[in-house]
Amino acid sequence: MKRAVENLLETAGRALSELGDDPKALDRARVRFLGRKGELAQLFKQLGQVDEQDRREAGRVLNEAKAELEALFLKALDKNRDLAAAERPTIDVSVPGRRPPRGRLHPITQTAAEICRIFNWLGFETVEGPEIELDYYNFEALNIPKDHPARDMQDTFYISEDVVLRTHTSPLQVRTMEKRTPPVRVIAPGRTYRRDSDVTHTPMFHQVEGLMVGKGISFGDLKGILTTFVHQMFGQNVALRFRPSFFPFTEPSAEVDIECVMCRGKGCRVCKGTGWLEILGSGMVDPQVYTYVGYDPEEITGFAFGMGIERIAMLKYGIDDLRLFFENDLRFLQQF
Ligand code: FA5
Ligand code: MG
Repeated sequence: MKRAVENLLETAGRALSELGDDPKALDRARVRFLGRKGELAQLFKQLGQVDEQDRREAGRVLNEAKAELEALFLKALDKNRDLAAAERPTIDVSVPGRRPPRGRLHPITQTAAEICRIFNWLGFETVEGPEIELDYYNFEALNIPKDHPARDMQDTFYISEDVVLRTHTSPLQVRTMEKRTPPVRVIAPGRTYRRDSDVTHTPMFHQVEGLMVGKGISFGDLKGILTTFVHQMFGQNVALRFRPSFFPFTEPSAEVDIECVMCRGKGCRVCKGTGWLEILGSGMVDPQVYTYVGYDPEEITGFAFGMGIERIAMLKYGIDDLRLFFENDLRFLQQF
C-alpha cells in the first residue's frame, strides 16, 4: 500500500508538471487523481483488504497522500490563474482619466441671465412673448402705422402682410399692458430679427425690454433705474450719459451710452474714436401707446427701454466682433 501511494504521488507530480497552462488539462488531471472514481479513490477502496493490524497505518498514509495531492492541485490552479490574469488587458490606474465633455451656458445666455438677475433684484418680473409676431404688436400699437417712415428704421422680415419676425422686444410692452392693470414692472428677454449683417449687426440678435408704468413715474426714475443697472453690470466707476433720441413709442426718448470699456473713454476702434458706446434705447412711454391698451394717459406714466444683449456681452467680455457669438467655435465659447 505504501508503495502504491508513493507511485501515485510520483505519477501525479509528473502529470502536473507536464500540464502546461491549459485549464482543461488541469481539470482532467484532477478528475483522474482526485475524482470520485479516481486513482486515489481506488486505493481507498482497497483499504478493506488490508490486514487488520496494518489498516490503521495504511489509512493514515492514504489521508496524508490525499492532503498532499489536494495541495499540489491547488498550487497548480493558482499558477494557472496567474497566467490567465497576465494575459488579460490590465488597467493602468496611474493614467489620468479622460474628462467627459461638459456643456456650458452660451455667453449670450449668461449675459441675458445676468441682466435679468439685476432687474429682478430691482423688482422687475421676467416675461416672454412670441418671436413670430403680429404687425399690430410689433408696429401698429407702438405708434408706427403702416405708412410711417419709422418703419424704414428697422428692416423687417415679413412672413405675410400682417405677420413679421419681431424686429425688437417692444411688442412685449403692449402685450403686457393689455393683460395687466398698472402698476407694471417687467423685463422681457428674447430673440429679435432684422435684415442686417455686418461686424456689429447680425440678422438674429437678442434684446431685453424693460417697462415700468404706474402712477407718478418720472424721467428721474428712468435715469435712476438705468444708472443703477449700468453700475451693477459694468462697475461703479463706469461713466454713462443720456443722449436725446427718437422712438415713435416714447416721448421724450434717450439713448444711453457708456464710457468705452476697451479704452476707458480715450477713443479706440471699438467706440470709433468717440470714447462712448451706445447700449440701449429708452424713453417715457408715449401717451398714444396707452390708448391702445386701455390705460388712462392722464393718470398713468412710465418708461420703457430696450437693449441689445450682444452689445452688452461684447462690452462685458471685451469682444470686438459680434459674429463670434454665432460661429459656435468651441475655442471661443469655452472661455466663458
Ligand atoms: C429698439 O429696438 C427699440 N425697441 C428700443 C427701445 C425700447 C426704445 C423701449 C425705447 C423704449 P434700436 O433699433 O436702437 O431700438 O435697437 C436697440 C439695440 O438693439 C441697439 O442699441 C443695438 O444694441 C441692438 N441691435 C439693433 N440691431 C441689431 C443687430 N442687427 N444686431 C445686433 N444688435 C442689434
Ligand atoms: Mg439705436
